[in-house]
Order: sequence, then structure tokens, then C-alpha cells
Amino acid sequence: MGATAAHWIASKELADVVLIDIMEGVPQGKALDLLQAMPVEKRDCNVVGTNDYADTANSDIVIITAGIPRKPGMSRDDLLNTNFKIMQDVVGKVVKFSPNCIIIVVSNPLDAMAQAAYKLSGFNRNRVIGMAGVLDSARFRTFIAQELDVSVENVTAFVLGGHGDTMVPLSRYSTCAGIPITELIAPDKLKALEERTANGGAEIVKYLKTGSAFYAPSASAVEMVEAILKDKKKILPCAVYLEGEYGINGLYVGVPCKLGSNGLEKIIEIKLTADEQAALNKSAASVKELTAVIGV
Ligand code: LAC
Repeated sequence: MGATAAHWIASKELADVVLIDIMEGVPQGKALDLLQAMPVEKRDCNVVGTNDYADTANSDIVIITAGIPRKPGMSRDDLLNTNFKIMQDVVGKVVKFSPNCIIIVVSNPLDAMAQAAYKLSGFNRNRVIGMAGVLDSARFRTFIAQELDVSVENVTAFVLGGHGDTMVPLSRYSTCAGIPITELIAPDKLKALEERTANGGAEIVKYLKTGSAFYAPSASAVEMVEAILKDKKKILPCAVYLEGEYGINGLYVGVPCKLGSNGLEKIIEIKLTADEQAALNKSAASVKELTAVIGV
């Protein structure tokens, strides 16, 4: 996942990249391989691999992908304790060497790990953002575009809530060329697409067996990186620390956010129906159960 994120970053010539892992040789080898693709791709990005956080010093953005992935039959929540331990180790070193960075968390269970990184880093909430909604809405957009047989570029989609089984795909705010998809797709079909979206990660784990998705998750993290580095003020669904927005307090949950050079610059509050708010509350409650277990 980290190596694939580096691949997207270099292919877009967004930044120099340092790949870091505990495995000796692997980040060095992958980085050198990617670096040697740069002349062919006509990109001037430096890519280095290391096992030493000192080499990551003064990074502008740190994408944390560390942690074990799930295996078939596991939920993201089953990774909680193992990945929290890894997060405790990683975040301390990230903060030590890059005290001014913006952290994008990708490790699962996403919302709880983002909250852990926020609490462990001591950063303001604008500098610790979880990647999930971009991925979940990309999955929803893929399925909508397939269903309507249109370009993926025509489709926007919104997914709220935690990055888990209780996520909330919002068809009412999803569109094809500006037309609400509720006007174009029958309710039962739409429901099936929403369900496939919520199970989108598990569908891939079932095929891969030994790990989880990495192309779409890393592309999604890199869309956030690009919005921040280019100060695009782009509105993307991200997991952020809510302080009363959407009636939720003191918890990481996915909501529409404006991303720019300061990281999270604004949380966009949209009106939800009673059913949608109830679904969001349920999703938040399942995040809260996890954060309570690890005490963050
Ligand atoms: C997924 C994992 C990365 O949704 O959470 O594929």
C-alpha cells in the first residue's frame, strides 16, 4: 500500500518520497526500482527507501499505512489491538522527525487508528486526517458508472460515517452529470450498489486471501496528498475529529471536508434526513466502541 502510494505520487510528480518499513531491504529495493522508472516516465521525483526515521525528517506529509491487513473472514475491527501497538511506535517517530507534517492515516480499523494518531501526536485536528471516504466513494462511483454505462468522470458519490460495515453511502447526494442517481437507478438496484460499496474492501480480501486492497486505497490517499500540496481547497470525504459537527463530539468519523495547505480547512455540514442521521450515529457508535477499547 505504501509502495503503491509512492508509485501514484511519483507518476503524478507530486513530491519526493521516502519509503520506510521495518523490513530491511524491502523499502530500499522498492524505492530504487521506482526511482529507475522516473526517466521512462519523465518525472523528476526522488524516491528513497529506509528503515530509519531520521531519513524522513521534515516531511510535509506522512501517509501511515503501517499495520497488518485483514484475512478473509476478518473484519477491519479484528486488527485493532495489533495495529494500535504499531501506531504507538510509528506516530512517536513521525512526530519526532517531522513535527510540522500533516498525517494521513490509512491503517485499519481506520477511524480508530486516525483517532489514535491524533491523540498520540498531540497535533491539532487539521493535521491528522483519515483516508476512507475517498476510497469508499470511489468504489460507489465505480459501481454507479458500471450500472449506468457512463464515464466514471460523470459520477460523483458521497459516503459518510466510519470505514466499516456501518458506513453510510448517500445516494441522495450522489450524481451522474449533475443528475441525482436516485432519478436514474431503481431503489432496489441502488440498495444493492450501496451494499456492495460497504462490503467493497471485503470483496477484494476474499479474492486476494493474504491481504487487502492497495491500488484504490493508495490512489485515494494520494488524491488527499495532492489537494493538500497544491492547496486545492478540494472537498473530499475524510475521517476527521468531530467537535460537535453532525451532533458528534470527540470522535473520528467520515464527513465531507475541505482540504488545502493547512490540511483539514473546513468540515462541510449538510442536512441529513432522520434515517441518514440515524445511520451516521450508528456508524459513529461502532467507532466509539473501538476507541474505548484502546482508550483513545
Ligand atoms: C479497504 C481497506 C484498505 O477498504 O480498508 O480495502
